Amino acid sequence: MQIIKTIKDMRAFNKILRTGNKTMGFVPTMGALHEGHLSLVRRSREENAITVVSIFVNPAQFGPGEDFHRYPRDPVGDLEKLSALDVDAVFMPEGSEMYPEPSRSVSLDVGGIGRMLCGVSRPGHFNGVATVVAKLFNIVMPDRAYFGRKDLQQTVVIKKLVRDLNFDVDIIVCPVIREKDGLAMSSRNSYLNAGERKAATVLFRALKLGEKLILAGEMDNAPDVRREMEKMVRSEPLADPDYIEIVDTRNLQPMQGIKLPAALCIAARIGSTRLIDNIIVDKKRK
Ligand code: PAF
Repeated sequence: MQIIKTIKDMRAFNKILRTGNKTMGFVPTMGALHEGHLSLVRRSREENAITVVSIFVNPAQFGPGEDFHRYPRDPVGDLEKLSALDVDAVFMPEGSEMYPEPSRSVSLDVGGIGRMLCGVSRPGHFNGVATVVAKLFNIVMPDRAYFGRKDLQQTVVIKKLVRDLNFDVDIIVCPVIREKDGLAMSSRNSYLNAGERKAATVLFRALKLGEKLILAGEMDNAPDVRREMEKMVRSEPLADPDYIEIVDTRNLQPMQGIKLPAALCIAARIGSTRLIDNIIVDKKRK
């Protein structure tokens, strides 16, 4: 497994390894790798001759006062996990390699899709994600890129980025990987103390309640379902909901009357940690 720190070396790796028709799968990450990330890596390994993973905590997607400086970092553990999965290369640039002139850098604006849901409490976040993903695609030049559906809004933004800027990359969205009690895996789960960790399961429980109400035909309008879900979240003293929305899976537009498939999306603070989760409700997939 090659560890690559510079853009120049990443391009050289491409030239040497990608002879013939070898396809390359790419898994962009911010490190602190867990089973969710590793499931993306395994999928890429199955579907491509070469797999590249990037580890870069992207300052451009953190707002002032957010957790950029304390975001979990575990480069040694990450490299061990990736080496065990036989990844071909890990791209781990420094901040100065990706943003040599941060204040003068060009950055992308993804428009309204970046201002809804998580974009309300994290203004500019999705512009920062789109900017770094565009840069990474230009540097790594993958055929396929793998993202987890836990970050549903991110996957919609990235698909739009690829369409609008004509990147020649297939975006593969992979299932949410959960702990045994339903909590979606996230690097930020490591911020939770024992009480908060227990309380955090309320996100998945509220999503499952929403799904049950919809599939049982008990409720067919979004405000009623959302109200029941919110009641459940608020019954957990350590949880403070940021939003609970029922949206169209393709464009994330909120629904009034529920049409399947629908995405149930939730963001909440558990103590001081903001977590997100979602499930897709679809009769066929029940
Ligand atoms: O999902 C993440 O870890 C990040 O948002 C990404 C896609 C690696 C961009 O920094």
